[in-house]
Amino acid sequence: MPLEPNPEWIRSDLYHNSFLIARDDALEHARKNSDGQGLPQIAVSAAQGKLLNLNARSIGAKRILEVGTLGGYSTIWFARALPEDGELVTFELSEKHAKVAQENIEYAGLTSKVKIVLGPAAESLKKLPSEPKWDLVFIDADKPSNLTYLLEAERLVRKGGVIIVDNVVRQGRVADPNVNDDNIIGVRKLLEHLKTDKNVDATTIATVGEKGYDGFLYAIRL
Ligand code: SAH
Ligand code: DHB
Ligand code: MG
Repeated sequence: MPLEPNPEWIRSDLYHNSFLIARDDALEHARKNSDGQGLPQIAVSAAQGKLLNLNARSIGAKRILEVGTLGGYSTIWFARALPEDGELVTFELSEKHAKVAQENIEYAGLTSKVKIVLGPAAESLKKLPSEPKWDLVFIDADKPSNLTYLLEAERLVRKGGVIIVDNVVRQGRVADPNVNDDNIIGVRKLLEHLKTDKNVDATTIATVGEKGYDGFLYAIRL
């Protein structure tokens, strides 16, 4: 689990958000409805969601893949970045999460742009044809499968496209040799692979804020 957010980090996120991120009914509804139906409170923060949205817009993304939907909070941020004819496909294992996400996406008026695919993401990804390519893939599901998802993402993303992986810092514990849980090992396997991977160029950016101390891996397809 990511570190419990420190009150100062929460205050700082809220302070910055108060200038930069407008209150948004659909995003608030997504969070409230997800919490109300007992989904785990592990969606990206507002500031992170906006960064994902800005990233998608900065590359002019028209086709986005997401691995790990939960209640559709990050999905809504991404779908908002799409042009009228854009599309987003998001993969979710849990029927309950997918149902809540569908409600939230509908409330946000984004049903026509978003398709939720139920089932294990590795299998669903493998079924996707290599053409047409996708502009951006966001990987945010079961961490032990990170490397599998990255390899599929590399197959599916266009040159110059972007792959972002959530939760790669985990309170700095990924770098702690005394911690060896499956999630941490999943991130380390990804990093070890990337050391010699010639298909992408990547960096990790650590973040502190409402979601504690964690980070994104950001990669471009070469
Ligand atoms: N991206 C979301 C958070 C996703 S949480 C957001 O920021 O709003 C991780 C999600 O991955 C959970 O909903 C979980 O059910 C899902 N998941 C776990 N294992 C999976 C698998 N093998 N295939 C697809 N989804 C999976
Ligand atoms: C967990 C998963 C996430 O995707 C996240 O952003 C935070 C926590 C988790 O499984 O604990
Ligand atoms: Mg995450």
